[in-house]
Amino acid sequence: MAPMSKVTVPALRSHKVRNGKEPLVMITAYDAPGGRVAEEAQVDMVLVGDSLAMVVLGYDDTLQVSVEDIAHHTGAVARGGSGFLLVADLPWMSYHLSAEDTVRNAAKLIRAGAHAVKLEGGRKRVPMIEALVAAEMPVMGHLGLTPQSIHAMGGFKVQARESEAALQLVAEAKALEHAGCFSIVLEGVPDEVARMVTDAIGVPTIGIGAGRHCDGQVLVWHDVLGIEDRVSPKFVRRYADLKSAAVDAVATYASDVRSGAFPDASESYHLSADQAEALSLYGLAAD
Ligand code: KIV
Repeated sequence: MAPMSKVTVPALRSHKVRNGKEPLVMITAYDAPGGRVAEEAQVDMVLVGDSLAMVVLGYDDTLQVSVEDIAHHTGAVARGGSGFLLVADLPWMSYHLSAEDTVRNAAKLIRAGAHAVKLEGGRKRVPMIEALVAAEMPVMGHLGLTPQSIHAMGGFKVQARESEAALQLVAEAKALEHAGCFSIVLEGVPDEVARMVTDAIGVPTIGIGAGRHCDGQVLVWHDVLGIEDRVSPKFVRRYADLKSAAVDAVATYASDVRSGAFPDASESYHLSADQAEALSLYGLAAD
């Protein structure tokens, strides 16, 4: 069983900056070292996102991962760290067919170690959200730029730029809150629209590319650490340059191996003097 997080769903449900609370900190992670770092850095929530497909598995979109993939990585994060609320993404087609299918798939993620699941979309997801909540599985919603709708949206594009779409987004957020979501990710929407949504609902909004007025922020692990350097969305702030550090380290290792500088005597195991002496009788040279 996943250890109880000190950040709990009932405590999070009413966590609003407008009530004097600090913004919530969420980051994605995909493996045990990530879980350990997140624990030591004292983040509030960790998301095993379906961004797994892109940043870890090398696909061009998030549609390529299965429930089993997310469960595998959720288990790794849960074994690596605790103290945060662990949320696992329900991947594309794991919650689109029926409420029953959704509950079965979500249960695999909870059994793997997640405390809650996240799914994308508005009002049309309400029956699935209600079924999950009835089965005691906390649900985080995800609105705005929803990467699993990449083909329907015509690409990764900022959403709700027009006033009508902004009002629609507020209505969708209210529907998710009413269905039982304890929190809602707002991705890729104008700052002003995220503020409207945040003001309109009683559960916390977690922004990514949604400006400063959300009740918390989430970023992707590889972006925060500068491991992903091929694309740099406007909303990303890099807090390290681990890609360059990694390339330098591996290139130095390669050069040391090729020159014979690695390993040296201190990095090697040695026979005791008498065993080396015994072998010298057979003509084997001691170091
Ligand atoms: O999969 C993911 O990493 C996400 C975040 C971007 C919110 O859904």
